[in-house]
Amino acid sequence: DAYDAGEHDSFMHKEMLEQPAAAERVLRGRLDERFGTAHLGGLNMDARETRAIRRVKILGCGSAYYVGQMGASLVEELARIPADAEAASEFRYRNPIIEPDTLYVAVSQSGETIDTLLAVQEIRRKGGRVIGLVNVVGSAIARECDGGIYLHAGPEVAVASTKALTNMFLGFALLALQLGRVRDLSIADGRRLIAGLQRLPGQIEEVLAQEDALAELAGRLAEAESLFFVGRVRGFPVAREGAQKFKEISYRHAEAYQTSELKHGPLALISPEVPTVAIVPEDELTDRNVGALHEIDARRGPLVVVTHDGVDLGGLAAERIVVPRNERELDPILLTVPLQLLAYHAALRLGHDIDKPRNLAKSVTVE
Ligand code: G6P
Repeated sequence: DAYDAGEHDSFMHKEMLEQPAAAERVLRGRLDERFGTAHLGGLNMDARETRAIRRVKILGCGSAYYVGQMGASLVEELARIPADAEAASEFRYRNPIIEPDTLYVAVSQSGETIDTLLAVQEIRRKGGRVIGLVNVVGSAIARECDGGIYLHAGPEVAVASTKALTNMFLGFALLALQLGRVRDLSIADGRRLIAGLQRLPGQIEEVLAQEDALAELAGRLAEAESLFFVGRVRGFPVAREGAQKFKEISYRHAEAYQTSELKHGPLALISPEVPTVAIVPEDELTDRNVGALHEIDARRGPLVVVTHDGVDLGGLAAERIVVPRNERELDPILLTVPLQLLAYHAALRLGHDIDKPRNLAKSVTVE
């Protein structure tokens, strides 16, 4: 096999470090600075059809589902179209209502995940329009969709998805931009987001450069049997994806929760033995987030806060992971990258097989 991990100890490590280059590729040729929009020829929809969309429904499994939740926020924020994500594995079993003015989006690295493929077939059987956000060209899901956005992340071997996931997020940003610009999104906002997207590859590089400090922190987190990952609104899918990565490869119990829901149950589990990784960007919710984290601090729960430079944590005893600022809508992907490194280094410390975690397959092609 000509494709190998080279100087890296695992494909996951190689693929994490390839993210800046992969991000450049998914954006290449698709940004229109003049009109502040994106060009996605593969969608096979004209302007009239694009404007007729009243709802966006995103379907994927595992990490693709969590990034789908990030994508739904992007669509709602930029295009102001109601959007949500659902686990593709559940969708077809609840006899979903398929609407002609809903745009269905199937997200998949491999393009072969059976649950996502069967969801696509169910939608098409009932007359719905489905586009794919798919990495593998010519894969089953890509072939079954009415159109789509190829992710151009390059081959991804590690079960834990990194560069494909980042490109899924960027694919959603491009889609949201295009949907937004035929609605209410102004040209100035379109250009602001384009400039933000263009800064992202370099900023992902900056996060990856923190690997040594993150490795040290991950070594300490690896000692815990159980951890929480918490975030709110834009930060919640980030927490879900962070917990997913951590449990997939470190085999520690990692549970994601909305920071706002801590007081409605999980606070009972907080103790000095249960660390919490909290997503606290500088945004509309910073103060509320910090307030909720004081409840953890008061119970001597160890805290790691993924945040921006200069955010006032109000005296919390917390370790900080600082990511670069971008446009708020694009924050989730920069907040996600350090969580990949935490999971990777925890698994490495515990001596696990990084690329092939027990009981899991890269793509699940049987039901
Ligand atoms: C498997 C993997 C997950 C992955 C999911 C979706 O369950 O273990 O890591 O996120 O499939 O894969 P896809 O190829 O559809 O993105």
